[in-house]
Amino acid sequence: MSRYLVKGISELVTCAGGKKRGRAMGDAGIVRDGAFLVEDGIIRAVGERSELEGRFPGLPAVDCGGKLVTPGYVDSHTHLVFGGERSSEFVRRLRGESYMSIMEGGGGIAATVAATRAASEEELAESALPYLSEMLSMGVTTCEVKSGYGLDTQTELKQLRAVARLNRMQPIELIPTFLGAHAVPAGEDADRYIDDCIAESLPAAAESGLAAFADIFCEKGVFSIEQSERYLRRAADLGFRLKVHADEMYPLGGAGLAVHAGAVSADHLLRVREEDIAALAASETVATVLPLTAFCLAEPYAPARRLIDGGAALAVGSDFNPGSCCTYDLPLSVALCCIHMHMSIEETLTALTVNGAAACAREDSVGSIEAGKQADFLVYSCSQKEFLPYRTGANLVRRVYKKGELVYG
Ligand code: NIG
Ligand code: FE
Repeated sequence: MSRYLVKGISELVTCAGGKKRGRAMGDAGIVRDGAFLVEDGIIRAVGERSELEGRFPGLPAVDCGGKLVTPGYVDSHTHLVFGGERSSEFVRRLRGESYMSIMEGGGGIAATVAATRAASEEELAESALPYLSEMLSMGVTTCEVKSGYGLDTQTELKQLRAVARLNRMQPIELIPTFLGAHAVPAGEDADRYIDDCIAESLPAAAESGLAAFADIFCEKGVFSIEQSERYLRRAADLGFRLKVHADEMYPLGGAGLAVHAGAVSADHLLRVREEDIAALAASETVATVLPLTAFCLAEPYAPARRLIDGGAALAVGSDFNPGSCCTYDLPLSVALCCIHMHMSIEETLTALTVNGAAACAREDSVGSIEAGKQADFLVYSCSQKEFLPYRTGANLVRRVYKKGELVYG
């Protein structure tokens, strides 16, 4: 049996206490000179060092050298598995074309769909592996991954099998999401495509057992509120938990639909309507913001301050994908949250850990340093959390532990 105390922690950010909404997000459960007991990969006790040393004398120790320790990050929104790349589209955007105009012209997601259909399951997994190892080095210990670059049953399932394969190949725990309704396939009609998802790809994905969640790109010019509602209702009937890409480019009301459908999260929210901020705040649906996408698209940031002040539970994800946001840089994301979205450092850490776990329906096992949770934690090169946004974009993570094992550093 492996049993050890983690100590030598200047500031222990526990994020304990479950999913946090509104004001409570500002309480990151900080213990000065903290310590915790890990037994077979599970945290058994948390407190001040002197107290834990007294309760558990003579145990081996992991010494953090007087540094900051936080829970591992939960990146609750990624499109990590895809074929090809879209750097030429990125350059077109630099010259002034918009994301949606490129998509309407047959590029964007459709370009990645062609490359993903052409790749084998092994190739898809192999190409995602270096991304995952870099994400791990930045502190990600749990990560949601969407399909959505097949837009046919066979390729969507191939993507999900690539996720399952990746789950066995490296330490980050992956949570798979079926995103069959990510775009309307070329030459198809949106209504007819939703009919196809309802009749074929959603049941096939449910049958495969390869995905925990179903998601849809509810957006003007992609899938309407009515189409999204039909898709989500069928998905829920088949046993999926729900996520919605909502109000990213246009205030269509996707966040309100997500609440109405009982979705676990509504994601993006750059243009969320005022009434839907209130609806999110009054619901269990996590509001997931993706500041790296706003940054890469030079769009306004989601109104994180108003969401939190209104009482919503906010999570922060990367949205890593080959188009709108080809980065998973959570250190940069921390700075964007604090500098541009006016979130406190405590709120940002809550959003990246326990609320990210809640956005993946994993708050029982990951996202905080408290008794009963997996020992997923990060040791930094700095002693205070203030250094995370202050050293803007720098990766200060030095060691990463997953289920009590050192997996990086
Ligand atoms: O979350 N908005 C829709 N889906 C992705 C982008 C996917 C892509 O461009 O390949 C997003 O931003
Ligand atoms: Fe996305």
